[in-house]
Amino acid sequence: MNVDDYYRLRTLGMRLCRRVAAEMAPEGATRVLDAACGTGLLFRETNACTGAVRVCLDKSPEFLAHVPDDCVPVVGDLLDPPDLPGPFDVIFLLNTIYNLGGTDTAVKAVGSLSRLLAPGGIILADIRNPAHPILRLRYLMEKLRGRFVPTAHSLKKMRRALARRGLRVRRARPIGWLIPFGYVLEVVLAEDGEE
Ligand SMILES: C[S@@+](CC[C@H](N)C(=O)[O-])C[C@H]1O[C@@H](n2cnc3c(N)ncnc32)[C@H](O)[C@@H]1O
Repeated sequence: MNVDDYYRLRTLGMRLCRRVAAEMAPEGATRVLDAACGTGLLFRETNACTGAVRVCLDKSPEFLAHVPDDCVPVVGDLLDPPDLPGPFDVIFLLNTIYNLGGTDTAVKAVGSLSRLLAPGGIILADIRNPAHPILRLRYLMEKLRGRFVPTAHSLKKMRRALARRGLRVRRARPIGWLIPFGYVLEVVLAEDGEE
């Protein structure tokens, strides 16, 4: 997908995820990472972590060329991150997990990012709800049209799979109305996750 396609496809749901994640980010973070940042919309649309060193990681140099001037752009794969100016108090992974495939890869992605966390740091990552009726219909239509179908992940399964990797979902903020279409998860290292 090129940058023009991405701007055409971005949805209200994607914007909501960025807004909710920005609200969940603690104040006072000094170093933050937006992993799979795309064109840096998180830092354009919200005031997430202003004042911190903000690093933007994406595999696409074309997308990275659009991140805000006060961010540090780094080309690389989040599943095998390059050297980054971390460790980070907050790592965002937004509107991306559903493109990565099954739960194993989703958990691998969060796991590889967790190695970049500063003590007490958090990952804010969103998932889509497989029980949401409109999403189910949309994904079915995509399948029937022979197009790429995103993967929704149940909150319960993600919690369990992350726990097996030593990660804990400390908070899950629903996104949407009535039936949430997704959740923004606050993930911490299990030893940091107080009950
Ligand atoms: C749908 S966009 C989301 C961008 C941004 N997080 C947002 O909320 O607007 C997904 C982005 O993930 C990037 N991406 C996908 N897989 C990646 C990987 N393994 N490593 C780094 N970036 C990746 C793509 O290049 C793309 O820019």
